[in-house]
Amino acid sequence: MRNVRTLGLLGTGVIGGGWAARALHFGINVIAADVKPEMEEWIRGAVENAEPALSRLTFAPLPPKGTLSFTTDPRVMASQADYIQENIPEQLPLKQRMLAEVSRHAPPDVIIASSTSGLTPTDLQRDMTAPERFCVAHPFNPVYLLPLVELVGGEKTVQGTIDAAARFLSYIGMHPLHVRREVPGHLTDRLQEALWREILHIVNDGIATTGELDESIIYGPGLRWAAMGTNLIYHLAGGESGMRHMLAQFGPCLKWPWTRLEAPELTEALIDRMVEGTQAQAAGRSIRELERLRDDYLVAIQQVLRQYNIGAGATLRSLEERLYRDAAAANTHRPTDSYSADAGKGEPAKPLRLLDTVVRPEWVDYNRHMSDFRYGQVFGDAMDALYRRVGVDEAYRGSSRVFYTVESHVKHLGEAKAGEPIYVTTQVLGLDDKRVHVFHRLHRGRDDAAIATGEQMHLHVDTAAAKASTMDSAVHARLEAIRKAQAGLDRPREAGRSIGRP
Ligand SMILES: NC(=O)c1ccc[n+]([C@@H]2O[C@H](COP(=O)([O-])OP(=O)(O)OC[C@H]3O[C@@H](n4cnc5c(N)ncnc54)[C@H](O)[C@@H]3O)[C@@H](O)[C@H]2O)c1
Repeated sequence: MRNVRTLGLLGTGVIGGGWAARALHFGINVIAADVKPEMEEWIRGAVENAEPALSRLTFAPLPPKGTLSFTTDPRVMASQADYIQENIPEQLPLKQRMLAEVSRHAPPDVIIASSTSGLTPTDLQRDMTAPERFCVAHPFNPVYLLPLVELVGGEKTVQGTIDAAARFLSYIGMHPLHVRREVPGHLTDRLQEALWREILHIVNDGIATTGELDESIIYGPGLRWAAMGTNLIYHLAGGESGMRHMLAQFGPCLKWPWTRLEAPELTEALIDRMVEGTQAQAAGRSIRELERLRDDYLVAIQQVLRQYNIGAGATLRSLEERLYRDAAAANTHRPTDSYSADAGKGEPAKPLRLLDTVVRPEWVDYNRHMSDFRYGQVFGDAMDALYRRVGVDEAYRGSSRVFYTVESHVKHLGEAKAGEPIYVTTQVLGLDDKRVHVFHRLHRGRDDAAIATGEQMHLHVDTAAAKASTMDSAVHARLEAIRKAQAGLDRPREAGRSIGRP
């Protein structure tokens, strides 16, 4: 598959809008096609609505946002896209017809994927040109925040399509789950439907309301599911002998059974109960309001899970690793860098520009300028970028070796407002086998003015032994190369300052 710079979307409703927001945020251009011209305004609004939550998902440096264009002609979209995602209504003949049409106008190395919730890929790819590049890529709403995407191949799909789709989807922060056998409803919707069927029965039988049933999930199983799913949690519930004991204890109930397999008839009375129940739960809050609340907690949950490197938090972590790596690589060889003749093995004889970012809306305080503690965060991110450049990565930290900040001093010189591009340049002032002494300057992108300086001492620590330790010799050598290359620079005026009269 080709390198994806432009994502083509067919159908720009709820799901198409979600794909657009996610792709644009991670630097992919989007060309969206919908039969209805009014969907252009709709999709632009959907992207804008997604942005507040998306922009808080990670503080890792992001590439410039992608650009969005719109057409009512699917052929135009198909001829410009490097990867196509179909999101039109869930009707087999319509999808078959449109996928066949799009496949005739998209070069054969362009993957075409469908967001279908339950149709099978073999049926969908039936009339396509080059059907081997087709697969199902089933996302979850909101697509811009939930990482799960089920990948399913049909009879004519080749493994290379699944692998390439997985690579692209991981690149935009998703967790591809390869569903190895095509079945109606894939995996997740089968599970969701089973639960929903029981809900409909219980409401229909007048046993509980929709609100009570939601309570039965959100205060208990829902909290467990986000990190461990059903099976691993049941393994824990079985005590020392785990799943085997769990099955012995609760297996007989499966035969009673507690649950029903057929869904109840959707009578008017049942529909009314479901609608009235959920309206009572919404308690006057609009769909928009509830969406914002949902988006905010989805971001917060993923950031918590990130600390434990589990589930969606692990996906977020590996996305951030990639973003930091890309930012470091993009900043390694700037055309403006001047290289000293013999100094540090190709390191430039100037402060390193390792972090480019923008002042996020939530970083500003009541003065509309960046809050104090965000300066520490930005200098911390610059330091992370420096460490990545010299080989301190997840694997290094996984071996109980980290750098701690043991001293820092920030001097404020100017202001940055929400949305302004900023960047950090970093100078290594001193180094021994345990300590790194650095000096950062935070610049405003629009005029390069230094708006703050930050001086820090970092200490290498063996966390298992809980004491200072010698850093890896290769890491030391790379830091020394940087220090040596920068040794001819003037010592920053602010270095060594403490608070007090000048
Ligand atoms: N809504 C969900 O929660 C969800 C979740 C995962 C997957 N899906 C799947 O995603 C797909 C789209 O669902 P949705 O909820 O976004 O639907 P939607 O009704 O919100 O959007 C469908 C869009 O397709 C457009 N469209 C219809 N015919 C078209 C054509 N011939 N060419 C171009 N555009 C056309 C419509 O104008 C509309 O904008 C379905 O297959 C659905 O099963 C939905």
